[in-house]
Amino acid sequence: MERKTEPGKFYYFYPQAVALIGVRSNIMPAAWHTPLSADPPLYGIVISPKRYTYELLLKETGFTANFLDLEHAAIAAKTGSCSGKDIRKLDEFGIPHSPAETVNGPILDDAYAVYECERVDVREYGDHMLVVGRITLLHYRKDHAEAGQIVDEHVSKPTLYFGKDRYLTIDPKTLQILTGK
Ligand SMILES: Cc1cc2nc3c(=O)[nH]c(=O)nc-3n(C[C@H](O)[C@H](O)[C@H](O)COP(=O)(O)O)c2cc1C
Repeated sequence: MERKTEPGKFYYFYPQAVALIGVRSNIMPAAWHTPLSADPPLYGIVISPKRYTYELLLKETGFTANFLDLEHAAIAAKTGSCSGKDIRKLDEFGIPHSPAETVNGPILDDAYAVYECERVDVREYGDHMLVVGRITLLHYRKDHAEAGQIVDEHVSKPTLYFGKDRYLTIDPKTLQILTGK
């Protein structure tokens, strides 16, 4: 193994599922996000303070996190290369959506799952901010989610980000079932 004491970009954990973070009428893709607690249901997104989304996150009480299949990866690519400061992305790119119920953010029509999150904490970590949300409402497509918890690999084709503008998805043929028992 090579060794590096100053790792620079340490993206060896990619690919990462993409979440489209919605606040007011703006969305941006985030590959840095994570579950933090099951009870209460806490979910964190890692957002640079340079993003317009961050400005909106501080003004609003919450956000949405939308998960889309690879066929909609262009939404991530397009909305991740411009700022809501300059354009109204949802209108400009014709992204169908409706308002969330518990927070001021969009629910994308093409999403197979959406979290509505109430902002409960914001902390600085280096050049990014960890914004923690409590999931107040979960939307999911019944045909995509096995027992309402994990996506069905035969139906869902989650958008995974591999860095450098590359996106991929899962192939059920590569699934290995290991019980660990
Ligand atoms: C696939 C993808 C994933 C990204 N993940 C993040 C992320 O996790 N955190 C972040 O701050 N920016 C991330 N970005 C960059 C923002 O999405 C991008 O700067 C966006 O244009 C910000 O939009 P806004 O100014 O409207 O908030 C990502 C971009 C792409 C394309």
